[in-house]
Amino acid sequence: MAQILSSIFIFLFYVLLLVNISEQQQQLINSTTTATCNFTACNSERIACSSNLDCDCFSLTSNSNIGICGSTIFSCASVVRCNMDNVTCSIASTICVNSTRCGQPICYPLPMASKQICSPKAVTSTTLQTTTTGWFSTGKMINARYYHTASILSNGKVLVTGGYDNGSSLNKAELYDLSTGTWTSTSNIHNARSSHTASVLSNGKVLVTGGFGENIIRNSVELYDPSTGAWTTAGNMITARYGHTASILTNGKILVTGGAGNSGISKSAELYDPSTGIWTTTRNMTNARYDHIASVLSNGKVLVTGGGNNNGALNSAELYDPSTGVWTTTGNMNNARYGHTASILTNGKILVIGGTGNSSALNSTELYDPLTSAWTITSNMNNARDWHTASVLSNGRVLVAGGGNGNVLNSAELYDPLANTWTTTSNMTNARSQHTASVLSNGKVLATGGYNSNTGFLNSAELY
Ligand SMILES: *[C@@H]1O[C@H](CO)[C@@H](O)[C@H](O)[C@H]1NC(C)=O
Ligand SMILES: *[C@@H]1O[C@H](CO)[C@@H](O)[C@H](O)[C@H]1NC(C)=O
Ligand SMILES: *[C@@H]1O[C@H](CO)[C@@H](O)[C@H](O)[C@H]1NC(C)=O
Ligand SMILES: *[C@@H]1O[C@H](CO)[C@@H](O)[C@H](O)[C@H]1NC(C)=O
Ligand SMILES: *[C@@H]1O[C@H](CO)[C@@H](O)[C@H](O)[C@H]1NC(C)=O
Ligand SMILES: *[C@@H]1O[C@H](CO)[C@@H](O)[C@H](O)[C@H]1NC(C)=O
Ligand SMILES: *[C@@H]1O[C@H](CO)[C@@H](O)[C@H](O)[C@H]1NC(C)=O
Ligand SMILES: *[C@@H]1O[C@H](CO)[C@@H](O)[C@H](O)[C@H]1NC(C)=O
Ligand SMILES: *[C@@H]1O[C@H](CO)[C@@H](O)[C@H](O)[C@H]1NC(C)=O
Repeated sequence: MAQILSSIFIFLFYVLLLVNISEQQQQLINSTTTATCNFTACNSERIACSSNLDCDCFSLTSNSNIGICGSTIFSCASVVRCNMDNVTCSIASTICVNSTRCGQPICYPLPMASKQICSPKAVTSTTLQTTTTGWFSTGKMINARYYHTASILSNGKVLVTGGYDNGSSLNKAELYDLSTGTWTSTSNIHNARSSHTASVLSNGKVLVTGGFGENIIRNSVELYDPSTGAWTTAGNMITARYGHTASILTNGKILVTGGAGNSGISKSAELYDPSTGIWTTTRNMTNARYDHIASVLSNGKVLVTGGGNNNGALNSAELYDPSTGVWTTTGNMNNARYGHTASILTNGKILVIGGTGNSSALNSTELYDPLTSAWTITSNMNNARDWHTASVLSNGRVLVAGGGNGNVLNSAELYDPLANTWTTTSNMTNARSQHTASVLSNGKVLATGGYNSNTGFLNSAELY
């Protein structure tokens, strides 16, 4: 009973949160201006008008809202009195000002009010600014999860499947509607799984392969049909695996590589043909690996980078040629890494980011040039991180978010490929690792779930 009540409470709490969610964020912004010198500043507030403390503000007798910032080092005997206006100041380059110190209005010599003598004082003011960039909470998922998948369907919705929730793999799937910012559940997958893959096929269906669930490594494969919201079982893979990759080749087939299987870390690869629903083996990779990344290059080849085996992280990379089915080794990365990301930049190069090296999380990033097969070290991120996400934005920049380096991070940073620089951008609303990030059709990035050492498995989601 208590549990039911607390669920109701939690439900209400989320409803309240949803109501409060807005597409805006308020930030305190410091702005620097120069001190004004008007009657208020001169007389009542006594705000210094210059960084030279020998200068003060004198208000014009003709208009007390206007003041001049002038030196106070003069003797009252050396200046001429005026009659509360500037008509009587016949001396060149003087103006009639009110002088409290001299006890009378005086013809003040304007050269003593120059910026050279009385340099304007910088004033920093803090204002509350409403911004529309940065991370904003959106609707919470129905299930907390990490090591899940998120796929963008052709109708623009995002399908989230499986993952872990506190030690057990999930069979739950749900859909995010970006027009409402809300999640609805869709049919359960047949086999609970995490560390699986999900690929959106050219016919719009989503192919889910392998993963780990109910204490077994899965070879099972399922297809989601967005038009019916139903899952159907597809042909099993030849090898059961998790922590593997699945890439859609330019010929429409799906290449699955590596992962951890029942006989250890695998170098095997296999192909799925969506037109027949049949899996066939293709040649083995040179290196067995899991938690690696596979990127489809613009020339159609597949670049596999890093990952781990029983000895730790790998710096090796290899290329699969779909036309011959042959793997060839290509240049080694400068750093061994797994739990990294690899982003295909608009110039065709591959940016590999962070991950776990042999001992700890990396801040290093490196670029692969498909034309030369060479890796070059690029700028370091501001934070070392692994199990983060990296998303190529419509402006070509790469948004990196979250991950961990001992602590789970809320920080996010942007890579500018032209300047080769990393700059910090606004923090996520939640620190999260092993989450997902999807670039939506409206250009925003949706981050979902993940793990956070303070609050555990997250159901929260946010937009950048
Ligand atoms: C704004 O100025 C205040 C006071 O000088 C300072 O404590 C704060 O860190 C500044 N904030 C930013 C964002 O620079
Ligand atoms: C005078 O200066 C104060 C303080 O800088 C400012 O808040 C105020 O708006 C100014 N008044 C006029 C009339 O410019
Ligand atoms: C000049 O200063 C006197 C005394 O300090 C004040 O009473 C008066 O209002 C000022 N006049 C103007 C025009 O600022
Ligand atoms: C006083 O001097 C100011 C600045 O030179 C000028 O703008 C203003 O018209 C003058 N006032 C009178 C009453 O002449
Ligand atoms: C996870 O499960 C354990 C054991 O069942 C339980 O003690 C713990 O409270 C759970 N944690 C969360 C965040 O649900
Ligand atoms: C791949 O390697 C495994 C051993 O790791 C071997 O049993 C298998 O025959 C190889 N497959 C191919 C297609 O070479
Ligand atoms: C990582 O560790 C492996 C095994 O100990 C070693 O072969 C490799 O050189 C190390 N790589 C780096 C970059 O330190
Ligand atoms: C990146 O990591 C290296 C080695 O861990 C460290 O020396 C360097 O200061 C780091 N750079 C940045 C920008 O944090
Ligand atoms: C982001 O969060 C970190 C710690 O969680 C904090 O130190 C940092 O100041 C935050 N940065 C911004 C821009 O709010």
